[in-house]
Amino acid sequence: MRTIIEPFRIKSVEPLRHTTPQERERFLETAGYNLFLIPARDILIDLLTDSGTSAMSTEQWAAIMRGDESYAGSESFFRLKRVVDNLTGFRHMMPAHQGRAAERILFTVLCKPGHVVPSNTHFDTTRANIEFTGARAVDLPVPEAADTQARVDFKGNMDVEALEALIAHEGETNVPLVMITVTNNSGGGQPVSMANIAAVHAVCARHGIPLYLDACRFAENAWFIREREPGFGDWTPKHIAQKMFSYADGCTFSAKKDAFANIGGLLCSNDDRVFQQETNLLILTEGFPTYGGLAGRDLDAIAVGLEEVLDVDYLRYRIVSTGYLGRHIADHGVPIVEPPGGHAIYIDAARMLPHIPREQFPAQALAVELYRHASIRGVEIGTLMFGDAAQHELLRLAIPRRVYTQSHIDYVVEAILEVNEHKDRIRGLELVDAPPFLRHFSAKLKPI
Ligand code: F0G
Repeated sequence: MRTIIEPFRIKSVEPLRHTTPQERERFLETAGYNLFLIPARDILIDLLTDSGTSAMSTEQWAAIMRGDESYAGSESFFRLKRVVDNLTGFRHMMPAHQGRAAERILFTVLCKPGHVVPSNTHFDTTRANIEFTGARAVDLPVPEAADTQARVDFKGNMDVEALEALIAHEGETNVPLVMITVTNNSGGGQPVSMANIAAVHAVCARHGIPLYLDACRFAENAWFIREREPGFGDWTPKHIAQKMFSYADGCTFSAKKDAFANIGGLLCSNDDRVFQQETNLLILTEGFPTYGGLAGRDLDAIAVGLEEVLDVDYLRYRIVSTGYLGRHIADHGVPIVEPPGGHAIYIDAARMLPHIPREQFPAQALAVELYRHASIRGVEIGTLMFGDAAQHELLRLAIPRRVYTQSHIDYVVEAILEVNEHKDRIRGLELVDAPPFLRHFSAKLKPI
């Protein structure tokens, strides 16, 4: 059969609520044209994020009932540890309440002012947590990543030559770690090849610098390697993931993505001394090392999710369904970051709305228009989010895992194509009120 179906059936449903265009206009005004500030009940299809928004499986809900809520030494912790050890091979792992908590602990231990932390592209919380320590976060994507239209298999790769040059320029003692984000979220959800991970590992090993994976979407990355990188076509996704982790000295992980959990994170390391310092910080702000800010039941949900996410049928459906949205809008003239990524489609708003200059937030203007038109929420990844560090003006439509069906996605396609027809009428926005830090969460804007 050629039709690739959702490899699950629905056992519990959650109603969606329609609103009128007049209501949405009012909601927008009240929210200062910031979609983070619109209550979720006023949104029909929510593509703000794929983080913590997954549907859990019957096995995950069953595991939740098994959760052991002991303060210390919970069975849930040991079940999770067995799964993580087997998957990643790292010597140590600690739970944390989500990815950014793991990041904060890692960077607090490793970074100080004057340090530089390179990545293929840092996610916003990663960048913010590094900069909060006084260190500098530097993005080193491959040059092809600058062209949203280039159809390159592994556009998420790190520029290895640029990494060498950076280490030479800064001095290896000022680079406490190198990170690779898989898949490269801020760079369009694009995958990183095994060859690139190996090459970055080789550079790091030569300089004695630890390599960490920001492994939020490790399974989607493994699937792209299986599909696109010669030599991996008959490997299981799990085997590929194990090999990816084998090149790293540790990882941060948000279980809210490729573990189908609604909350949770992990910090893994091979370094005994670093892990000890991290454990002290964990106890200070997250909790005892066998729960790390989570309930025992959360640990069980993550353990099951980490195994389910590597299922071949799931990953095939996941990547094909994201590509379905991408192809259906791109083939009708909407410029997206090509090729479609794993967890999201990114519309290139600078290209779609050339009449709106960067200072007027073209991607945010598009996000607002898509909500106004069809009650769909995406997220701006551009100047509002990153300020002058923004490389592109993107509207990200992130697809929650196992949540929306093909007819939901067909509705999204129809809405985007209608917005594309009247794109010349979309107006830019100006800031009315914004904090200096992480301003996209709370900034208020108004139409120009
Ligand atoms: N790293 C990457 C690549 C991410 O995409 C995220 C979260 C994090 C780290 C932080 O993890 O949310 O559990 O603290 N990304 C979400 C998103 C929020 O919408 O892309 P967290």
